[in-house]
Amino acid sequence: MWTYPTFLAHRGGGKLAPENTIAALQCGLDHGFHAVEFDVMLARDGVPVVMHDPYLGRTIAGSGNVFDYDAAELVAMDAGSWFGAQFKGEPVPLFTQFVAFCQAHGIWMNIEIKPAPGFEAETGRVVAALTRAMFGLEIARDDPVVPLLSSFSVVALAAARQAAPDVPRALLLDVVPADWREQAIALDAVAIHTNQKNLTPSLARQIKAAGLGLFCYTVNDPGRARELVEWGVDAMCTDRIDLIGPAGPR
Ligand code: G3P
Ligand code: MG
Repeated sequence: MWTYPTFLAHRGGGKLAPENTIAALQCGLDHGFHAVEFDVMLARDGVPVVMHDPYLGRTIAGSGNVFDYDAAELVAMDAGSWFGAQFKGEPVPLFTQFVAFCQAHGIWMNIEIKPAPGFEAETGRVVAALTRAMFGLEIARDDPVVPLLSSFSVVALAAARQAAPDVPRALLLDVVPADWREQAIALDAVAIHTNQKNLTPSLARQIKAAGLGLFCYTVNDPGRARELVEWGVDAMCTDRIDLIGPAGPR
């Protein structure tokens, strides 16, 4: 059963703020959102940071991989200017800072573990262990404020399970393969997260009948959001937080 919010701001504030920044979280809050999806990977020193791309060049200036830099170097970089001059100097957040902001503002988190190739197990382990450490009391009382981890990497999810079995996990899939049920069972996942473009009503029914949560990314059309809810989809993230609000299409 899905005990989490239905509509989440993708990458913090969707397309209305620089993705995966504290400014994005604030933008989401300003639009009424208290639920968010964001991406996490490791810096060179093994400290997790909130980033989508495993390389520089799009949201932060420069070149090379995120894992070529220590977290302190990444935090000093400008992750806002690419989006707009008013966001100049907005830092790359540390994972722990991002989570602390969410905790302080009552924002529920779907934490997407986004490992650079070769760092799958380490990223899963570190992110799960830190999440566990930051939600010890809530985990102990099975509180639905505990974040949900997700990843396209089954290696990362397996490592997360080993490090923190009591932090829930979701299997993230672009196209849902025939063996989705077996994969979910093997990871003890509570939900399937999938690309809304590839979902069918029949598949949605099967996933729900299996007792799993069903989440779609990334839904930007209000009509499509309504349709997916009719299909039984439990939740979705959106880039268009101006069109699809915390209570659904505006
Ligand atoms: O977690 C759902 C979605 O964010 C996956 O795609 O590339 O936006 O991280 P991406
Ligand atoms: Mg993501």
